[in-house]
Amino acid sequence: MCGIFGYTGNKLAAPLLVGGLELLEYRGYDSAGIAVINGTGKISLTRKAGGTDSVARLSAAVHELSPGGSLGIAHTRWATHGEVAERNAHPHVGRSGNVAVVHNGIVENYIDLKSELIDSGFTFSSETDSEVIAHLVSRETENGSCLSEAVRSAMRRVEGAAAIVATSVSEPEKLVAARLGNAGGIVIGSANGSHMLASDIVALLPHTNRVCYLESGQVATITPKSCDVTDLDGEPQQIDFVTSSRSADQAARGQFPHFMAKEIAEQPDSITAAMRQRVDLAQNTIDVPEFDLTPEQASAIDRAVFIGMGTSLHTGMHGASTLERLAQVPSYAENASEFRYRHPVVNENTLVVSVTQSGETADTLAAMELARDSGSKLVTAVEAEGTQATRLADITLPVRCGQEIGVAATKTMVATMITLTLMGARLAALRGVMSRETESEIAKALASLPSLAGTVLERDEPVKKIAQDLTAYRHLLYLGRGTQFPIAMEGALKMKEIAYIHAEGYAAGEMKHGVNALISAEMPTVALAPRDEMFEKMVSNVNEVKSRGGHVIAVTTDGDDVMESIADDVLYVPQTHPLLQPILNVIPMQMLAYHTAVALGMDPDKPRNLAKTVTVE
Ligand code: G6P
Repeated sequence: MCGIFGYTGNKLAAPLLVGGLELLEYRGYDSAGIAVINGTGKISLTRKAGGTDSVARLSAAVHELSPGGSLGIAHTRWATHGEVAERNAHPHVGRSGNVAVVHNGIVENYIDLKSELIDSGFTFSSETDSEVIAHLVSRETENGSCLSEAVRSAMRRVEGAAAIVATSVSEPEKLVAARLGNAGGIVIGSANGSHMLASDIVALLPHTNRVCYLESGQVATITPKSCDVTDLDGEPQQIDFVTSSRSADQAARGQFPHFMAKEIAEQPDSITAAMRQRVDLAQNTIDVPEFDLTPEQASAIDRAVFIGMGTSLHTGMHGASTLERLAQVPSYAENASEFRYRHPVVNENTLVVSVTQSGETADTLAAMELARDSGSKLVTAVEAEGTQATRLADITLPVRCGQEIGVAATKTMVATMITLTLMGARLAALRGVMSRETESEIAKALASLPSLAGTVLERDEPVKKIAQDLTAYRHLLYLGRGTQFPIAMEGALKMKEIAYIHAEGYAAGEMKHGVNALISAEMPTVALAPRDEMFEKMVSNVNEVKSRGGHVIAVTTDGDDVMESIADDVLYVPQTHPLLQPILNVIPMQMLAYHTAVALGMDPDKPRNLAKTVTVE
């Protein structure tokens, strides 16, 4: 939630700040703004708010105004406190106009801090919680503190999770950044004669891959030539720059109309990337070197809990059912925001698997902290390496599909499903409960999965046609059983988030207990019915929908001729190993939502009110 960028060096800051925001836009796009310290020693502020194109409008304004100065801070906002309006956009300027601050996170005690500041004569020009930080920093500098001490002192007063960057006209070469808890990271980059920082390394990669990450409770003071880190009390801290292996090219949209289209199309490669060095296609064996438990540790596990949010929760549901099937460990998936507050019983025999493409989701990180504190073995499956999830976990399983920009997760889901399937197989092998034959069957099926995913993508036209029909509806039902239940949930989520059509994902066996009352010609049903052990049950469910006047779009596997005779529309997906079938079936769900959104004139990359990285709870 919210993207932060800052630059101090010898180049003109404004274009670099806007360029940084363009790469961080996925974190929020309600509003965008920059502050640069210009040649006259004043803060020059440019902010835009509203719509989903605030960064583009900011860019045009900056181009026209051409603010001078070689230091500045920038922010792209996902509103939490105060409506979407220019006065609420960041940066916020402190009382005497000497300090500007950008903030990501929530100041939980902002009401108390605000009334304290008002009582001592401060006036507020926004409804945000963030403005209190600007005034707190400003007050400290007015009292004679340097910017670093002012930030440390302000952050000692803040409750909640926050990441901030501050600048002051009195110290025009200096940026001070601070991080408290898990409200998004701060990564600092070092390039010839300059330093920059951002919420995500992706914004630094066009300039440098020499980076270091700020930990919670650390404050960094950076100038063009130096980077000094302390804790909140000013005690110096060791911080090491490392060379990241990531490259800037991964974030280009290429010839695709949207990032989501590109990311859907990349999925055959994502599958291959997640399998690399884990599946030996010559020997048909599976290994996950990062999952380095001993056989004794593996056998001691008596339960596995998968935690995640949104698409990652559905990915975790698939991971849990696969793990239970292969490794014979009781497993379930749970929404991280529920898990963290319900006093769950987890202990050193519990395997907790966090699923998070960003590695930054606030609820997932808090649930991980709880698991770590209870002594559980903690694994994270993550796309964004080096993020907080990887620092909390005992074991990091990179999913390796490359950064995803579209807000709605697609390729990260598929790559994570592969990664978790391999982890399940590895755990099963370590526990001695998987036959060599099963391992070989899965490995062989994995070998052909990228090309089968390619076949799914080639069948775009029938999906597009159905998507066109769906634009006429306001409600949809998605049904699935067994391994297809998480896919029904995911199909419905995709449709809600990018096409704004109300959709429910349901376990098909549950429909008689309520949802049947909704079935009518106004609510089509997408039925996930591959030829698997649940097929006959799904046939009955489809018949039940049809006999109540519902329109059915069935998703079945090649070779089936039953669905054609009962459903209104049928989409065919190639058949694969039953444990991998959901990985193929989720692709037409993504395509259906994508084409429906496009047909409705929506921008699937930037759905309203959402953000890709959710660093607030
Ligand atoms: C947001 C994104 C989703 C994502 C979810 C969890 O809602 O829009 O696509 O599934 O966050 O994110 P995570 O980074 O933890 O996977």
